[in-house]
Amino acid sequence: MGEAGTNPQVGFAEDDADFARFVEDIRKLTSIDLSLYKENQMRRRLTTLRLKHGFSAFSAYYEALARDPKLLGEFLDRMTINVSEFWRNPNRWQMLKERFLEPMAQRPGRLLVWSAACSTGEEPYTLAMLLDSLGALERTTLLATDIDETVLAKAKEGAYADRSMRDVPQEYLLRYFRQENGMYRVTDKLKQAVRFQRQNLLLDPFPDRYDLIVCRNVMIYFTEEAKSGLYRKFAQALKPGGILFVGSTEQIFSPGQYGLEAADTFFYRRADAGV
Ligand SMILES: C[S@@+](CC[C@H](N)C(=O)[O-])C[C@H]1O[C@@H](n2cnc3c(N)ncnc32)[C@H](O)[C@@H]1O
Repeated sequence: MGEAGTNPQVGFAEDDADFARFVEDIRKLTSIDLSLYKENQMRRRLTTLRLKHGFSAFSAYYEALARDPKLLGEFLDRMTINVSEFWRNPNRWQMLKERFLEPMAQRPGRLLVWSAACSTGEEPYTLAMLLDSLGALERTTLLATDIDETVLAKAKEGAYADRSMRDVPQEYLLRYFRQENGMYRVTDKLKQAVRFQRQNLLLDPFPDRYDLIVCRNVMIYFTEEAKSGLYRKFAQALKPGGILFVGSTEQIFSPGQYGLEAADTFFYRRADAGV
């Protein structure tokens, strides 16, 4: 290691170069651009993973990832946090229902709803339950996407442990779940209503003319630059008047610059033709 062992600054520079090369190699291998995620968080998480496998540098960890699909699968699964819950932040879901979904459900024609970064499916299934209770599920196209194939497989299975369930209102619990081997399984009606699909928000094209886009608890991981690009793309993916619902730490500052306007706390409306 030479001087790097005695001069901590040289050590940091080497670490930075090692990590920067890793980011570049991962981008070439997977098309995932880690430089668009907040660096400190991402680097800390990946360092823990690398050390768990005994690699002293990211270069060695990368070589192993490129050779071993199982290790790569684990890396893709862990690079972001997948935690989700039904009715996460219940009062916001109540607001979504009363203020936005009820009027949408009263309008004629098809509804287009997208749960972006849906993780293991709790969020799109919450949407499906609300839309069904409003009599609008049959005429809704409900798209749910995530970058991670592992969480999408779990979402399609639709079986959940207690910890995802704590905020499900009793009437919905009785109507949309059955208990089996200690797990809660969503009904086939809900499963059939959601189309799960892999999509990288930072790379892949967005659909358009959506009435409602729900994208919660993923933008906190992205750099400011990546977020700005996403807000603009979300605005364009909405119909004029369509609603973007974000997470409870993800307020958008100056939404007007993206063609959005505040509609309520954590809800934004496409203002006009977008920007
Ligand atoms: C904390 S979960 C949020 C789940 C759900 N939206 C909620 O609020 O409960 C974050 C999800 O974002 C996904 N994700 C991370 N980077 C992504 C990207 N570039 N494109 C799409 N999904 C991504 C992760 O795989 C993970 O499932």
